Amino acid sequence: MSSVLERELEYHEKLYAGFAQRHFARPAVRALRRHMVQRIRNVTGAGPGSRVLSLGCGIADTELLLTQHVAEVVGVDLSPAAIRQARADAGKLGIRNARFEEGVTAEGRYDVVIAIFFLHHLPDEELAALPARLIQLLSPGGVFYSLDPSRYRLSGAVGRLLIPNLMRKYQTPDERELAPEPTATLFRRAGLDTRVEMYDFGSSPLAGLFPGWAGGYRLARRLDDLLLKVPALRQRGSNFELIARAAV
Ligand SMILES: C[S@@+](CC[C@H](N)C(=O)[O-])C[C@H]1O[C@@H](n2cnc3c(N)ncnc32)[C@H](O)[C@@H]1O
Repeated sequence: MSSVLERELEYHEKLYAGFAQRHFARPAVRALRRHMVQRIRNVTGAGPGSRVLSLGCGIADTELLLTQHVAEVVGVDLSPAAIRQARADAGKLGIRNARFEEGVTAEGRYDVVIAIFFLHHLPDEELAALPARLIQLLSPGGVFYSLDPSRYRLSGAVGRLLIPNLMRKYQTPDERELAPEPTATLFRRAGLDTRVEMYDFGSSPLAGLFPGWAGGYRLARRLDDLLLKVPALRQRGSNFELIARAAV
């Protein structure tokens, strides 16, 4: 195992020892996950017939919400603690169309592959190699969807200034914000028809900071939908999406 993977594993085993489960269960974070699921369905077209793969699924709180809208969800993650929790939660909820596996690779063909807050954890060479792997994983016309922090986000600059310790607590030693267009170029070079969208401005950071305040999140989300129409603000948005489609 590479040293980056070892550090990722060590960090996430601690995170998934209890803190993540408590934090992700708070109302504003749940509202954020519901919004993400709606967004994934809208932009990928995932529906009742779709097989979905999630790379770096963590404890799968997004994926478990998605199961009610698609045929099947398969999640993979490096962290055994995350996979144990995802399986336990699926069992508790009586979800039968989801499967979670420990690991860094997947097999099979999928209509949709998602990667939520995952790409920015991959070392440069693994990120560069991912689009070619995706071509093997996507069905003809299948769609890849990712969500990651932008290198140009205003919330990151403000956070580093005002709450540097909290920012560090939420980050692994090796992760970094990504530049949206150069990241998209990696996917285009592999032959995927790729576009970049900005997902949010302040709403997701607010949900992280005030996880109990679902009303605040919903208000901030509505405000984001307006702010993101302004090009200069969209450039400084928090998390960007890649939507990459395989040839038919
Ligand atoms: C920031 S977390 C995101 C988890 C989840 N998608 C979410 O939205 O909460 C990144 C996840 O990627 C996993 N991870 C990091 N590097 C990985 C790799 N090379 N292969 C598979 N999983 C990896 C970590 O264990 C962690 O669960």
